[in-house]
Amino acid sequence: MEAISSAASMASSARPFCGYNGVKFSVAPRHPRRMVVLNVQTDAKPPASTSTESSPATGSSKKRAAIPVEEEPPLKPLNVRSFARENSAELTRPLTAVVCNAVDDFINNFIDKPLRPSVDPRFVLAGNFGPVGETAPTECLNVQGTLPPCLDGVYIRNGPNPRYVPRAGHHLFDGDGMLHAVRIKDGRVTFCSRFVRTYKYIQEDMAGGPVMPNVFSGFYSFAGLARGALVAARVALGLFDPSNGGGLANTSLVHFDNKLMALGESDLPYVVRVTNEGDVETLGRYDFDGKLFMGMTAHPKIDPETGELFAFRYGPVPPFLNYFRVAPSGEKEPDVGILSMLQPSFIHDFAITKKYAIFPDTQIVMKPLDMLVGEGSPIGSDKGKVPRLGILPRYATNESGMKWVEVPGFNFFHSLNAWDEGDDIVLIAANSYPVEHILERTHLVHSTVEKVRINLSSGIVCRTPLSSKCLEFGVVNGRFLTKKNRYAYMSIGSPLPKISGLVKLDFEKEETGDAEECVVASRLYGERCFGSEPFFVPRSSDLNAEEDEGYVVAYTHDEGTGVSKFLVMDAQSPTLEIVASVELPVRVPYGFHGLFVSDKDFAPTRF
Ligand SMILES: [Fe+2]
Repeated sequence: MEAISSAASMASSARPFCGYNGVKFSVAPRHPRRMVVLNVQTDAKPPASTSTESSPATGSSKKRAAIPVEEEPPLKPLNVRSFARENSAELTRPLTAVVCNAVDDFINNFIDKPLRPSVDPRFVLAGNFGPVGETAPTECLNVQGTLPPCLDGVYIRNGPNPRYVPRAGHHLFDGDGMLHAVRIKDGRVTFCSRFVRTYKYIQEDMAGGPVMPNVFSGFYSFAGLARGALVAARVALGLFDPSNGGGLANTSLVHFDNKLMALGESDLPYVVRVTNEGDVETLGRYDFDGKLFMGMTAHPKIDPETGELFAFRYGPVPPFLNYFRVAPSGEKEPDVGILSMLQPSFIHDFAITKKYAIFPDTQIVMKPLDMLVGEGSPIGSDKGKVPRLGILPRYATNESGMKWVEVPGFNFFHSLNAWDEGDDIVLIAANSYPVEHILERTHLVHSTVEKVRINLSSGIVCRTPLSSKCLEFGVVNGRFLTKKNRYAYMSIGSPLPKISGLVKLDFEKEETGDAEECVVASRLYGERCFGSEPFFVPRSSDLNAEEDEGYVVAYTHDEGTGVSKFLVMDAQSPTLEIVASVELPVRVPYGFHGLFVSDKDFAPTRF
């Protein structure tokens, strides 16, 4: 499929507050003329689907009754200096920036090598992986079935969505974070898509094009060297301040301490909020009152009983892994540096029990030199390395209690749950094989969900596959995190990263001797119809309710009709019966992780 560049007008009258390192400032409306996205998808939806505040669709949404989620503080006065600079970028852009952009163009046009399919935008951004423009809150009028009352709240999903046409290579992980939110109240539904206003986003907004090279694909050979030098020049000239981070916030979200945060592991969290109108605004970059540096995993864990948040950050310099805990009040404890992690590795997820934190030390490792002499990615595979699991007491203040157990062939990148059983730890996670294809040829990867039992006394590890299907991107009832649970809802890779449906797993079938296939319910979305990761929403807050008493929600997209939907499925049904379906006003690209926040769990954002 040919990539076609097109200018998509996008404007918004919303003025989100953005702050960095505690300093907040207001941002002027985006420069409509500069909003350029790739259009590699033949949308069946009309152009109006990429709506703006002034579009008819949005205009109608403004007239409807507001759906209260939280009290909105009044917007602060517009920062005139910022406004003027942004709206006259063409006239006032420093000569240094113009020169840097010219050098960037030269690199892309005359030095860059031909692209591999895994980083060629024509393939990576094909079909429903292609980016979309923003959509202001728009009412969804086509609702089939009945939306359960427990869904009053917000379902919001993150995903990569490059704002500008990539000048060179583009990996799936390289897109700017975009949040797609469905607001439900008393059966009325609104939908909204917004970019996370990261520091990178704002800098590129002001520059009118890409400023930072793509991390997973932008550094390669002489072009990589040249781009590295160009980044250094931009920093030296004051055009980019790396202390503000360069992350994309494109992976997931967490709701903690009255903050809804968009996450990407290469940067600090970004606090966002959902307005009364269903809009999604970025409030700023959050460093836990100056106690968090550089980044945080996109998969923190919250103990539903204690309210604590557990997380980690990893990087290329020792200690390669830092673990930390945050009290329910939001107060972060000091990092626990893990110096027994001997090599910088890609640690995308972990797991916690009531007693322990479990970290994967996988065969996906950091290879900074490969950015120049390899395939241009800072992360690659090391098949000579034996994967390990690191087990640390969850309230550890240093790593003296850390135990490592080797688990050959086990590389997990997403966990579902973990719990303690006597002297054992039980971990449910998806193992990816062959590991060398994870970043470059994802469609060749088979992901097997496994029950892994680790005996802490002997170090013996027992692994049991729970299904023969290719299953990834799963979730359990959040009430059971850190405790023994029975059910999981997982996406069917067909092949990955595309998802053709979902299954429900019953872990008890493994205990009763039917370990080969624990799938007890499934739903395929239909021919040419694919979805994203499911999320489980309990029917009630009753702590005695059955574990599977609730609904599984997910976005789907029909590549034949071009229609995207929000599906609500009965988690107790053997067919995961669809009880409600909402046709969305625009295309929703395939993405990564999301969550649902009930109205009753929302409180005014503390930021
Ligand atoms: Fe993830």
